[in-house]
Amino acid sequence: MTKALLAFILASALAGIGIHLGRAPTSMARSQNAIRVAVPAATSGSFTHPLVFPPVDTNANISVNIDEGCVQIMDGPCTNMWTYGGTYPGLTVRRPTGQPTNVTFTNNLDAKAGEMTVHNHGNHSTADSDGQPTSLLIATGGSRTYRYDGLEAGGNQRGKTQFYHDHRMDVTGRNVWMGLTGLYIVDDPADPPTLPSGNFDLPLIIADRQFDAKNQIPYVFNPNGVTGDKFLVNGVYQPYLEVGDRKYRFRILDASNFRTYFLELSNGDSFIQIGTESGLLPAPVTRTGMRMGPAERLDVVVNFAGELGQNIYLVDALTGTQLLEFRVTQHVTDDSSIPATLRPPPDIGEPTVTRNWSFNQAGGHWAINGLRFDPNRVDARPVLGTTEKWVFTNPTGQPHTVHIHDVSQQCVSRNGGACYPYETMKETWYLMPGETLEVKLKFTDHTGMYMLHCHMVEHEDDGMMTQFEVVARADPTPRPRPTPRQRPMAH
Ligand code: C2O
Ligand code: CU
Ligand code: CU
Repeated sequence: MTKALLAFILASALAGIGIHLGRAPTSMARSQNAIRVAVPAATSGSFTHPLVFPPVDTNANISVNIDEGCVQIMDGPCTNMWTYGGTYPGLTVRRPTGQPTNVTFTNNLDAKAGEMTVHNHGNHSTADSDGQPTSLLIATGGSRTYRYDGLEAGGNQRGKTQFYHDHRMDVTGRNVWMGLTGLYIVDDPADPPTLPSGNFDLPLIIADRQFDAKNQIPYVFNPNGVTGDKFLVNGVYQPYLEVGDRKYRFRILDASNFRTYFLELSNGDSFIQIGTESGLLPAPVTRTGMRMGPAERLDVVVNFAGELGQNIYLVDALTGTQLLEFRVTQHVTDDSSIPATLRPPPDIGEPTVTRNWSFNQAGGHWAINGLRFDPNRVDARPVLGTTEKWVFTNPTGQPHTVHIHDVSQQCVSRNGGACYPYETMKETWYLMPGETLEVKLKFTDHTGMYMLHCHMVEHEDDGMMTQFEVVARADPTPRPRPTPRQRPMAH
């Protein structure tokens, strides 16, 4: 018997439930995968705290204080964090698409935290409201209003699960680690109304932290990533969630600075992935395991039907850690359904320009195309209204999560072949060592400066970031050109 299976059985026994014999072979087979690392099962003292959810604000005008606060996470002393609105994760902004939203952030942190800047990750923002890393900052004691119009390419923005976080140059890692992360959900009436909704549509924000003996989380920069050994869901360590025996929609975010997870359900059940960072997929995709890197979102449905009385764990298979315990405690009727087709990606035409981006190194630092971030350098000037193909390569020995601001990207190919069916349209892409990814993107609505970077934030802070500037057409109304005169021959 493998250690992983033993751990699974021990955990099940401790939780006071029977082993689901029909599924044991699946567990055994899956545990033989080389990437799995077995760790001791949770003891009976674990999973005693209920999962909680950040407060939600649905108003058009929202004020968020960036405050220091002591957040109760581990048993014992509370943890000093930097928060959006007093909680970790911060306030969830939830808005209907197509509606303007103004969010005013006030920086109440101690002066030594410095200036802040807030990026609404995944939002199609104007450059001024995109959270620039070195300009339009929020000074200590100051405020700044970010305006989001909810529009894109002549219509409403697609429904999706975005998140906002600090983006200050050089210290994004520290600021995010200290707590500056919150969800920003866009609801879209054009999405199928039969998907699980209301109390059955829940966010799961996964992040790791390293706590010291006093439950504090001092941040020590390491260009190769800052990780912790405690995995939190919505800011709770080893939480449980009581659910009914029906379908739930979970909007999962990897809010960690650096850590990659491989999510599975302990009973071998599948997730039905319905969406990505960029909204719903064209069609649902059934997956038993899902890799997830920093800033990626997985919009999934889990069906607990037929599992009344069971405890099921959301597991990170890379470390063998149970993240969350689902307790199927109630029988409820399920009026939700997942349509066979969800939403096709928009037609953005064929690319007319190709650019290559190598996520590599320079002088011992992380870089893009051999150059570290320089706010005075612009590495691409795509023209508003055009579609380009961007080719990403990873010649390093480490994975990277490629993230592009402004507009979503559509997958063209992965490693010269087909894209994964769950990666039709995204804005954060996992790139393993040696991989090549081709995407296409259309620069709509806004001109100005946008970022492109690795979202393993210590890589970003170390220099794996650059910027592109969307420029207006040089000649917006093409006129007939005079026939060029014959140039005199040189010889
Ligand atoms: Cu979520 Cu440029 O970042
Ligand atoms: Cu972003
Ligand atoms: Cu990276």
